Amino acid sequence: HQSPRHIWNVEYILWAPDCKQLGMIGIHGSFPGPTIYAYAGDRITVVVNNKLHTKGVVIHWHGIKQIGTPWADGTASISQCPINPRETFTYEFTADKPGTYLYHGHFGMQRAAGLYGLLIVHDRDDPFKKDPKYASDLNMLLSDWYHEAVYAQAAGLERKDKHFQWIGEPQTILINGRGQFRCSLGITRDRRACDRRKKDAFCQEGDKSERCELIRRSECGPFCEGSQCSPVVFAVEPGKMYRLRIASTTSLSALNVQVQGHKLTVVEADGNLVEPFDVESIDIYSGESYSVLLNTTAEKQESSYWISVGVIGRTPKTPPALAALKYTGSKGELPVKAPPAAPAWNDVERSKKLARDLKARVGTDPPPEKVDRRIDMLNTQDLVDGQIKWAINHVSLSLPATPYLGAYKSGIQDQAFNTTAEAPSTFVSSYDIEKPPKDQKQEAKRNVTVSDRVYRLTHGHVIDVVLQNADMMRDDVSESHPWHLHGHDFWVLGYGDGRYDHEMATKNKELDVVNPRLRNTVVLFPHGWTAIRFVADNPGVWAFHCHIEPHLHMGMGVIFAEGMEAEKLHELDVPREAMMCGKTAVAASPPLLAP
Ligand code: C2O
Ligand code: CU
Repeated sequence: HQSPRHIWNVEYILWAPDCKQLGMIGIHGSFPGPTIYAYAGDRITVVVNNKLHTKGVVIHWHGIKQIGTPWADGTASISQCPINPRETFTYEFTADKPGTYLYHGHFGMQRAAGLYGLLIVHDRDDPFKKDPKYASDLNMLLSDWYHEAVYAQAAGLERKDKHFQWIGEPQTILINGRGQFRCSLGITRDRRACDRRKKDAFCQEGDKSERCELIRRSECGPFCEGSQCSPVVFAVEPGKMYRLRIASTTSLSALNVQVQGHKLTVVEADGNLVEPFDVESIDIYSGESYSVLLNTTAEKQESSYWISVGVIGRTPKTPPALAALKYTGSKGELPVKAPPAAPAWNDVERSKKLARDLKARVGTDPPPEKVDRRIDMLNTQDLVDGQIKWAINHVSLSLPATPYLGAYKSGIQDQAFNTTAEAPSTFVSSYDIEKPPKDQKQEAKRNVTVSDRVYRLTHGHVIDVVLQNADMMRDDVSESHPWHLHGHDFWVLGYGDGRYDHEMATKNKELDVVNPRLRNTVVLFPHGWTAIRFVADNPGVWAFHCHIEPHLHMGMGVIFAEGMEAEKLHELDVPREAMMCGKTAVAASPPLLAP
């Protein structure tokens, strides 16, 4: 076991994740970034050298709680200043518990430019490895890929009125950074063999399903071998058990994963063990991770099967990503059968059922009963000076030039931000969640403000948050949003349809306060609500936001300034390098020498 110390060069690279070569962000000249392995309790050190000539960068360790090291959370403007080009920043933190995690860029939309990888924390006393059938882990990092550069995407999202440009659907879904898009581009291939495969193996003739229509429309494919985009092949032996670790860092897409001919047993969600349950396929939203157990059967040793990852929740315009599960002894690398069809993209009930079926492992500690504070968060989309913004209780997040944590540490929070007003803890009761903002009654009409205000959470308080979905600017349209909390796990108390009513929810036992599952990311379903609970026991400044990259860019997030009371701040170290920007630059600089 190697000591988990890493020195990384973050740089622009030319890469062909889906067979088309583009400029993107890589680590040490490749994509995706290297997988970090550690044991629970290990101290992980990552020295990041920013080689991006003209852009700042930070790296966030998604799912790691950063207990005592909030400055190492890797969020630009929140926990630290962006690392300047040609500068170095050293992250040092503890892998607080075993699980499947991610790391990714957290400055502007840089994550979507390819700056991500897996972070796997092993358990020295792993319950699954004790199973005599256990063979190994199989890692699957899922993402979606756009050919348009993220800076162009961001510019499009910021354009006013009718010039607004949505990022649209991704060109390709990637598994471990590999996918297939029109493999004619830059790749030598046998066109006829490609056509044959498309026709024979991939889609049966006359199959008019959405998936097959999509495949027919693509120029070639699905596969070209021996390239950066050739599909992942997982080699397995018959009669064994594998732990499939799946994590998603998509920019937009919600995904569904299935392994042809195999059932999956869900055992972990976001680093927390869950009561094992069997599924045909599993949904995964951006920011989530799961472990599923996969049993290979003895009689299938001659075969190879598809692992198919398709888009759900939005009209799929992107073909599913494919990897192969190859039994030892099977002849070809790739399966000959057509891959399984993804479940209907718009079957939200199926997704909700999956979310509800996920239960905490029996015997896990229940959450505290006494709640100190409840914050309701209305999710709306609205226009501000011609720009489309997402807002929480009519406040759209824009990050300050001075990072919050450094500002609190230096005691200059009153000067560093555009307001000292607390973010609103609720929204007006007459707001009709079934109508877009423009159709609200007069008293429910509120202008959206763009601001860097925060929620100040008292150390040790038990906080309930109720995320409330509503119609977007378009009538009757409401989307799913995977909300992710930094610095904590939270209990998912419940999900419901329509508007949250505290009395009803309590009376009808819609909230599970006895044995709720712990997670760090949770979905807010269309037209519904999601309730969570957490303990504010980790002093730091933490983002809580929708993990959809363009949504966050449009303001869909809030900031918790937690335990920023003087006595707690005292115990916190914030390295000088995390504060050398904005108003903290002066506070962090050593005094000038007298002439
Ligand atoms: Cu994985 Cu704030 O994000
Ligand atoms: Cu969202």
